[in-house]
Amino acid sequence: MGSFGMLSRRALGTDVPVMTQIRRLMAELTNPMSLAQGVVYWQPPQKALEKVKELVWDPTVSSYGPDEGIPELREALKNKMREENKLTKSAVMVTAGANQAFVNLVLALCDPGDSVIMFEPYYFNAYMAFQMTGVTDIIIGPGHPETLYPDADWLEKTLSESKPTPKVVTVVNPGNPSGTYVPEPLLKRISEICKASGCWLIVDNTYEYFMYDGLKHSCIEGDHIVNVFSFSKTYGMMGWRLGYIAYSERLDGFATELLKIQDNIPICASIISQRLAIYALEEGAGWITERVKGLVKNREIVKEALTPLGKENVKGGEGAIYLWAKLPEGHRDAFKVVRWLAHRHGVVVIPGGASGCPGHIRVSFGGLKEEEMRAAAERLRKGLEELVNHGMVE
Ligand SMILES: Cc1ncc(COP(=O)(O)O)c(C=O)c1O
Repeated sequence: MGSFGMLSRRALGTDVPVMTQIRRLMAELTNPMSLAQGVVYWQPPQKALEKVKELVWDPTVSSYGPDEGIPELREALKNKMREENKLTKSAVMVTAGANQAFVNLVLALCDPGDSVIMFEPYYFNAYMAFQMTGVTDIIIGPGHPETLYPDADWLEKTLSESKPTPKVVTVVNPGNPSGTYVPEPLLKRISEICKASGCWLIVDNTYEYFMYDGLKHSCIEGDHIVNVFSFSKTYGMMGWRLGYIAYSERLDGFATELLKIQDNIPICASIISQRLAIYALEEGAGWITERVKGLVKNREIVKEALTPLGKENVKGGEGAIYLWAKLPEGHRDAFKVVRWLAHRHGVVVIPGGASGCPGHIRVSFGGLKEEEMRAAAERLRKGLEELVNHGMVE
């Protein structure tokens, strides 16, 4: 018997992406409003777009560039990381988004059969990156029941008891899907625990600027730490596909292995996207924080819409663009509720099962301007009221 028609066990064993299921669901509806996808409503800085418009005839934009990213962008990123993230000993590789950065890292750091650690509720794409590369022993650690912070005591115990030691621990700060922020002392403790056990720590900082209520995001650096960043939400560059990896410049061989992977996936991140990123960085952090400030109102609107579930069941949201809510008892299959909300109330959210937490939903407050957000939130509030009082009536 030949192999035609036989698909890899790795691919078959990987979750179906929740966003493709959500897109399919949206296509069934006539006038859906989305609180589902993790996007921001703004576009890249206008000045940066204007400059890039002139570059389309530049032949270098249509050619390949260095695998690790164009030198001017890497230099600008090193400055940004030094000044804003206090990362002074990090080398940088530019990737086609933070998701590709994460896959590069899993391929560079893990072998099939290795075990790794994530915390619930976890970022679904990171989970899938492990699954699809054969890293199927994914140990899920608990979050604190109130704050959802990763449980460092559990991590310490688990790392000391697991043989062989898990290869990678990963956290998202602030989190997707919870919007929970990891305070610096906790991040440092997690890092110390990883270091003592000889395991890597990958920190996903995609939402580094998305912090509210005076809280401050921070990064940490070390030979066992890899930081991942993204241009997607910060500069509204989702479709330009640009992110980067920061890793210790002291690590022997790390860059060589990363380059093998990079050269076989995108070769290099899109050159015009990298040029746009250089211009966007000229606008600086202030450009982003100005827009993030505007999301505070959106968060309030969505929080209000979630009140039918009970205040105690709505968590997270001190960072990123998400609130995380527990559905009433008896609704473990959150996708069923998501479909019902979509068809009956015209509003779409993400089911928590995609992040390892049945009976929950993730609601994004980043993708709509205030007025549209009010309309979407009103649909959500009505839907949740009906769910709580009467169940999923047809
Ligand atoms: C935590 C996290 N990491 C990575 C990504 C993907 O980012 P990118 O668009 O840069 O691939 C997202 C997007 O939602 C995210 O929430």
